[in-house]
Amino acid sequence: MEIVIIGAGVIGLATAWRAAARGAAVTLVDPAPASGASSVAAGMLTPVSELTYGEEPLLRLGLASRERYGAFAAELAELTGLETGYRTNGIIEVAFDSDDLRHLDDLRRFQESLGIPTEALNGRECRRLEPMLAPGVRGGLLAPEDGSVDPRRLTPALLAAGERLGVRLVRSRVSAVLVENDVATGVRLDDGAEIRADRTLLAAGPWCGDIGGLPDGVVPEVRPVKGQVLRLRTRAPFIQRSTRGIVKGSSIYLVPRADGEIVVGATQEEMGFDTRVTAGGLWELLRDARELLPGVTELDFAEVSAGLRPGSPDNAPVMGPTALPGLYVGTGHFRNGILLTPVSADILAEVLVDGTVPEVGRPFTPERFQTRSGA
Ligand code: GLY
Repeated sequence: MEIVIIGAGVIGLATAWRAAARGAAVTLVDPAPASGASSVAAGMLTPVSELTYGEEPLLRLGLASRERYGAFAAELAELTGLETGYRTNGIIEVAFDSDDLRHLDDLRRFQESLGIPTEALNGRECRRLEPMLAPGVRGGLLAPEDGSVDPRRLTPALLAAGERLGVRLVRSRVSAVLVENDVATGVRLDDGAEIRADRTLLAAGPWCGDIGGLPDGVVPEVRPVKGQVLRLRTRAPFIQRSTRGIVKGSSIYLVPRADGEIVVGATQEEMGFDTRVTAGGLWELLRDARELLPGVTELDFAEVSAGLRPGSPDNAPVMGPTALPGLYVGTGHFRNGILLTPVSADILAEVLVDGTVPEVGRPFTPERFQTRSGA
């Protein structure tokens, strides 16, 4: 089984590794592997804290992925000797006013109804866990099993794991998918070279629509959703676990790493393919982070960056076979790409190698859009 994967973000990289582990010969094509949203993301692993009502299938996908993360990170470390910064030290989400408290309470009850452990905290309990929290914090919710991974360590580990299993990396841009007799048969590169494959996976995030050669309606529209992210550094203990809050309606989170880095995210902007870092974006992040943790202004500045999350029409991932035989998609992970990497890679590897969509992946096939659009 020859597979070509377009796009070496976390989803393409992890799928390449998992498909190679199932015996496929995999070629991964990307001019700059792991340089998009995968290199900007904070890496919070939180199916619970970012849960939205009516998104139960996505919650189940997130939980399935979080359950796999420990073994996934351990397997990567064993195979490559590279650590991913995977931590399960919990995530705390805090509230400043009655509306936020009500929101957290609804969230807690919903999670409990699904059997997901969470702990409701009053303001004092929040500050006992995280002493740097603002005095105005009135309550919170601890998701003790959530955590984080460092995407900038995860992607080199995935690249190395793929290499160990014979994944061939081609640093080029794909100009078109090859289609012969209504079947996708591989890709054409910018320089005209062709790579033939039995199965072609489009995992190019928001750039899926840039690939030529595809009949209309075969690939669902995936839009770029910009996120600006700030990286700070601390020399003394600051926060122990990922800390989130809603500040005057906007959501802010800080994710600490063991090496002292603290990632502050993120804006959510529908600006097309714009990766400019703006004064306004930076100001918003710092303003809200300071409301949550006033001491944040004492930390060292390290970096600011912007990435483009791939958003599908319903903001859920799109994974599986398309209406064009031989062509598969793996994109649309929106705000959950890092969390969903292990389960998505398993789903996509099974789809590509065995031709079956596992139960957990069934709500996320492209068919849901094809039915609607008549494609
Ligand atoms: N999941 C975090 C973000 O998209 O900002």
